[in-house]
Amino acid sequence: MIYQASPETIQRAAQALANGELVAFPTETVYGLGADATSDLAAAAIFEAKARPRLNPLIVHVPDLEAAARYGVIEGPALALARAFWPGPLTLVVRRRQPSPLSALVSAGLDTIALRVPSHPVAQALLRQSTVPVAAPSANRSGSLSPTLAAHVAMGLRAPLPLILDGGSSGVGLESTIIGFRSGGRPVLLRAGGIERGEIEALAGPLHSPGLSARAGESVSAPGQYARHYAPGTPLRLNATQVASDEGLLAFGPDPLAGAKVTRNLSEAESLREAAANLFRHLHALDGQELKAIAVMAIPEAGLGEAINDRLRRAAVPAHTTAKPHRTG
Ligand code: TXA
Ligand code: MG
Repeated sequence: MIYQASPETIQRAAQALANGELVAFPTETVYGLGADATSDLAAAAIFEAKARPRLNPLIVHVPDLEAAARYGVIEGPALALARAFWPGPLTLVVRRRQPSPLSALVSAGLDTIALRVPSHPVAQALLRQSTVPVAAPSANRSGSLSPTLAAHVAMGLRAPLPLILDGGSSGVGLESTIIGFRSGGRPVLLRAGGIERGEIEALAGPLHSPGLSARAGESVSAPGQYARHYAPGTPLRLNATQVASDEGLLAFGPDPLAGAKVTRNLSEAESLREAAANLFRHLHALDGQELKAIAVMAIPEAGLGEAINDRLRRAAVPAHTTAKPHRTG
């Protein structure tokens, strides 16, 4: 059920989390599917609702840096990044504090923990009222498009959720940028996302990509970064320069290609911020239209374009190349 976020429904959601139940809630990036991060059973319920592979660890959401520091060791460059970008669309993967009150399932057995302080007012209110830290992946079936509206959550999960908090459309529209650290504190970009690489590099120096020049035992892995991900049911064709009449068009810029059956423009004004905010909503909309394929016009790789293109490339990987749970729709 979808409930408009209000002091009463947020209070009810906080209570449900404390009882070990699942709650979907808005964040500035995408909607999250939250559960008590200290409970093995509650964390397991997330994996079940998403049909998610067990080995993919979860991000723990907390209201502020102080709360985050109870679960992870945040120092050096991690602390500088936390101070600069929290609350906001940044996730830090740091050493897990030991002993930890968190479920081992949340970290999928790793000795690191992913921590995030979202800025969305409803997420903030929920996390402040919650008596437990909240593990939350995006509130969609594993491998499918992330939800940026409460209605996407209601349509996309395995079974109906009793409580979906509606806080309008997610303003950023892309998942958080995930930063991990090599020994010595050098930051690694584990997932491009809502904060541009340049903004982070300005503060923390050059960002390495996982796998690149990592010495043995030093690489920071990003489990769950499967080739195919964020995918609609309709095939995607990238960098399209023409479009057929039985295809949909995901356009970018003032001159969309002519001839598509349906067109959705990510940003007429060529704003990457606007394109990010529209990306999943437009893909959801085109996916519902019985199209042969979705042709996607080229998006510049600069700034948020890095994360947008990452999502599009993963969504375009053919479905048969990974052992992915069966698709809906
Ligand atoms: O914007 C977001 O980050 C959204 C909202 C709901 O906060 N959440 C989200 O969660 O995108 P999810 O579960 O869809 O993606 C989490 C990513 C996965 O790729 C996972 O592998 C990675 O974070 N991750 C989590 N813990 C990790 C760890 N200890 N080490 C490396 N990667 C980790
Ligand atoms: Mg996700």
